[in-house]
Amino acid sequence: MVLLWILFMALYMSPAILAQRRVVEPPIRVDLSSPGDVQPLTTSNVKTDWITMPIDHFDPQNTDTYQMRFMFNDEFFGGPGSPIFILVGGEWDIVEGWLQAGNMFELARENQGYQFYTEHRYYGRSLPYSNFTAENLRFLNVDQALADLAYFINEFKAQPVFQNSKVILYGGSYAANMVLWFKQRYPHLAIGGVASSGPILAKVDFTGYLEVVHEAFLSEGGEQCIATIRQGISDTITAMNTEEGRRNLERSYRLCGPLDYENNYELGYFSGLISWSFSSSVQTARPGTLRTICDDFSTDFYGVTPMEKIGGYIAHSRRLDETGCWDINYQTYIDFYQVAVSNSRAWYYQTCTEYGYYQTAPSTGTVFDRLRWLSVAFYVDMCKQIFDERFDEAFVYTAAERVNRVFGGLEPRVNNTINIHGIIDPWHALGVYDTDLSETSPTHTVPRASHCFDMQRWLPTDTIRMTNAQQAARRLVAMWLNS
Ligand SMILES: *[C@@H]1O[C@H](CO)[C@@H](O)[C@H](O)[C@H]1NC(C)=O
Ligand SMILES: *[C@@H]1O[C@H](CO)[C@@H](O)[C@H](O)[C@H]1NC(C)=O
Repeated sequence: MVLLWILFMALYMSPAILAQRRVVEPPIRVDLSSPGDVQPLTTSNVKTDWITMPIDHFDPQNTDTYQMRFMFNDEFFGGPGSPIFILVGGEWDIVEGWLQAGNMFELARENQGYQFYTEHRYYGRSLPYSNFTAENLRFLNVDQALADLAYFINEFKAQPVFQNSKVILYGGSYAANMVLWFKQRYPHLAIGGVASSGPILAKVDFTGYLEVVHEAFLSEGGEQCIATIRQGISDTITAMNTEEGRRNLERSYRLCGPLDYENNYELGYFSGLISWSFSSSVQTARPGTLRTICDDFSTDFYGVTPMEKIGGYIAHSRRLDETGCWDINYQTYIDFYQVAVSNSRAWYYQTCTEYGYYQTAPSTGTVFDRLRWLSVAFYVDMCKQIFDERFDEAFVYTAAERVNRVFGGLEPRVNNTINIHGIIDPWHALGVYDTDLSETSPTHTVPRASHCFDMQRWLPTDTIRMTNAQQAARRLVAMWLNS
């Protein structure tokens, strides 16, 4: 009985203990959560399998392999000659839900397609190595990941049932880049693709990101909302100047302890707690989401003073529980990435060695301008701390240049690739959103739409233009398949 009670208390208490000190991760890494409410009770048509994959596609002398995970759903498959749809995995774990709902699911249903979902190397359970040292991460890059896809398609096309199947790719965020770049590099392996919210320009000092976050709150929430946020951030910076102000700041933001106000990187991390929270809201917003947040800013729901309101909003939007606090300590932040294996560590490596994408403070009059600690130096210091001293700013800039040189930056030259963006998606600033990619590759840029909106299933809050973009993509894909 006592034992049971101890067990009960341990189970009951542990989430609170775990939730007590929390760290935050920048929304540089996107985690595509499952579309909509997939019915958990119906038996799933989605199955999981593994394929043996070369670790290095470009060195015939290296014969090492790893197991790459993929999922598939054949419920709509019309037999030999019917198409293959591949949802391209990015910097996250693949999950069944994406083969049970969403725009690609609809495409498969409408065209009797076979659905696959491929996991990106070094993410989820597709792990070439069990310790992500800089040395072991050498084979983590988009060139290898695209070659994985090519290998995958070749293997399946070798089966008689798929011999005459046309291949369509669908991908969101970084995986949208992969769709575009795959069509460039391996045009013989896929007849078309849908690229949702692809930030195809590698950029280290990505000030444009927070500019769009600002614009999104302005257009969806209005001037008053922006004014409150601006005041809250301004008061926060003023509070840093006195002991009393500092204690007030720490209380308002529910920090676990005092900040090291002499450490610019720790202040960078604290600035991130603020900007990354607004960013996350925008990145996942559907029409109405930001309006609701702004309505709550206009009452005492989050707090009374502007600074308390921001602190309360962060706690609320990130679901910090009653006893919880934010562990804003630079060393804790580094330790979060200093683990043997994690999606976060793998993606940070790709930002250091390929994309940058660092969401730095703008200087164009946004509410985030004064968070000047969000600098390239702050983001790049993590590259040095967790991977290699040699990963300094010059290294990261050179790495991003390579990607733009290889794939053509904002002039990717592709055929049969549908390019979709949302105006309130901060990532659209690194994509081609104001012109078609080519005659056969139209661009759809949709007002009020956010990151990867078109991949989702239809939602009642969607605007007509959002639905139209999804349907336009499906019509064009059907045309390619039938021509
Ligand atoms: C991973 O490698 C690092 C650096 O060599 C080492 O310190 C660490 O103990 C290793 N971790 C695991 C889980 O093997
Ligand atoms: C795209 O298609 C056009 C028309 O068929 C062709 O002229 C062009 O070379 C193609 N571009 C690429 C990059 O394949």
